[in-house]
Amino acid sequence: VDMSVDLGGGHRLPNPLMTASGCAANGKELHRFFDVGDLGAFVTKSVMADPRSGRGTPRMAETPSGMLNSIGLQGPGIDAFVDEDLPWLQSVGARVLPSIAGSSSTEYAHVAAALRASRAFDSVIGVEVNISCPNVANRGLVFACDPLASAKVIALVREQLPRDIPVFAKLSPDVTDITAIAAACVKAGADGLTMINTLLGMVIDTDRLRPQLGGVTGGLSGPGIRPVAVRAIWQVRQAMFEGRIPTVPIIGVGGVRTGRDALELVAAGASAIQVGTAVFNDPSAPVRVLRELSDLLAAKGFERFTDAVAVAHGR
Ligand code: DOR
Repeated sequence: VDMSVDLGGGHRLPNPLMTASGCAANGKELHRFFDVGDLGAFVTKSVMADPRSGRGTPRMAETPSGMLNSIGLQGPGIDAFVDEDLPWLQSVGARVLPSIAGSSSTEYAHVAAALRASRAFDSVIGVEVNISCPNVANRGLVFACDPLASAKVIALVREQLPRDIPVFAKLSPDVTDITAIAAACVKAGADGLTMINTLLGMVIDTDRLRPQLGGVTGGLSGPGIRPVAVRAIWQVRQAMFEGRIPTVPIIGVGGVRTGRDALELVAAGASAIQVGTAVFNDPSAPVRVLRELSDLLAAKGFERFTDAVAVAHGR
């Protein structure tokens, strides 16, 4: 099956599988298990202007429905990222979709401008704008809950980058109407959407009668949020179908562990798939999911991934 896909900017990706932001850091850990250059794209942990140590520990908890994290955007800062991480990813042939974050719209713009100035910028095939981290001050989500704030960040980032670098807005499921946020982002210049970030949750240690995570609340990822991702992607794709949002590619993410899970997100409206939490059990999950998805499409008689996308989205 020809798995290639074009998500904008004229960068044809060999396949639609990507890492999900945060679960693969800068790629070096996963590269011990498979060639990160084999992925359609590699999505990095969100990078901000300055180095950050994140929230207090413990920052991860396992639950029967998935994993809860309260990392709080730990990272090296954009200068170290462009000096070390991006050149390394380029050296192993990765197509990079850096995820960027900020605590103000000007910080997002600064990070995007620094990326553009990087000597390894040729490896960048798009930029994912994380406006939906649940683990920052004020309960986070300051941008992704507000259409105006989301639009401002996206417009400023869009201005910093060349036209052939598509900008993807990463949305939160923790909003009453995700189509309103999606519409605001696309109208502000987003060339695509990534759905979804983690769902705000909390776990309490019933021995100590205290929250388990140092940050108290955290983002739920993994199998438990897949139906939420399917719903969110479907709602936004439906709004595009009805002309309420201009049609742009959707990158689906949320609890994908198998090729069949990936196909479910495609059927909901995604044209590419990210694998996150599944790598903690199986570090090669992204390439395994690619193989499984390809086998599944072959069994259904498809010759091209994009044919399956067209059938699935033709409602
Ligand atoms: O669940 C998440 N955790 N989503 C984000 O966007 C950021 C991350 C963190 O660093 O807390």
